[in-house]
Amino acid sequence: MSLLKGRNREKNITGELYGKYSFGNMYNQLLSEEGIKNIVSVIKNDFEIAGIIDKYRSFKVMDVGTGRQALAMSLFGVKAVEHYDISKEHVNRFKKLLQKKKYKNLNISTKNFDLCKQALPRNNYDFVYLSGIVHHFSNTAKGLINCASSVKKHGLIWIYFYRSGTFKWFVNEMIRGLLSTEDIDRFFISSSINYANGHLSNPHTSQIMDDFFVPYINLYNPQQYIKFMIKLGFELHSSSHSDPLS
Ligand SMILES: C[S@@+](CC[C@H](N)C(=O)[O-])C[C@H]1O[C@@H](n2cnc3c(N)ncnc32)[C@H](O)[C@@H]1O
Repeated sequence: MSLLKGRNREKNITGELYGKYSFGNMYNQLLSEEGIKNIVSVIKNDFEIAGIIDKYRSFKVMDVGTGRQALAMSLFGVKAVEHYDISKEHVNRFKKLLQKKKYKNLNISTKNFDLCKQALPRNNYDFVYLSGIVHHFSNTAKGLINCASSVKKHGLIWIYFYRSGTFKWFVNEMIRGLLSTEDIDRFFISSSINYANGHLSNPHTSQIMDDFFVPYINLYNPQQYIKFMIKLGFELHSSSHSDPLS
């Protein structure tokens, strides 16, 4: 149980944190048929916002995370999806799931990968989908440059991020300052007792572990992201929930 005991935040335990304590603690729920059905509607909505609803079928897409968006995009009809995650647990579970009869003909690959340390293939994807990823990079600029260079000319990158300057993250950062990774198992168990009668697999615990214990929450405002992406040669194509841009 004491996977992270004695380690400090300077070590990159992002993969283990997600694999075991957050998202990974409820992997089967997130990637259940019901869970994937819900994500298919999120993807449909995101594709509409991105303005690709009439062309995504020919797309080669990149996704990062548990694999639920990769699966949903593939079921929705995207041509090919390449999935990456720093969590070995996520990738191994996803590999296993993809072997199931109902999924095994889908064109999805999955790889354990650190986007801040390993180079992605260049000019490779029509659409790079980063939903809730970039603020957890150990080095935001390095990770973003890597992802940006994997986008084909005239391709798109989707970045959903936690923005700086909100009361929630201000308070959250203070709480994080009071906690040590030594407390991680106690929090994991006590939040499960408080919120789910001791069942470790529940969304509240997942959220608490994510917000309080993930090694990196690097926050910037929308303008800063936009400026950075423009420097990398991108144009702002569409946006949602990023107002006021200031
Ligand atoms: C908050 S979770 C969200 C994932 C996605 N939205 C989902 O629902 O599956 C963040 C994910 O980013 C992954 N991640 C964070 N930093 C990474 C990195 N440097 N390289 C690859 N994956 C990374 C984590 O392992 C985790 O699965």
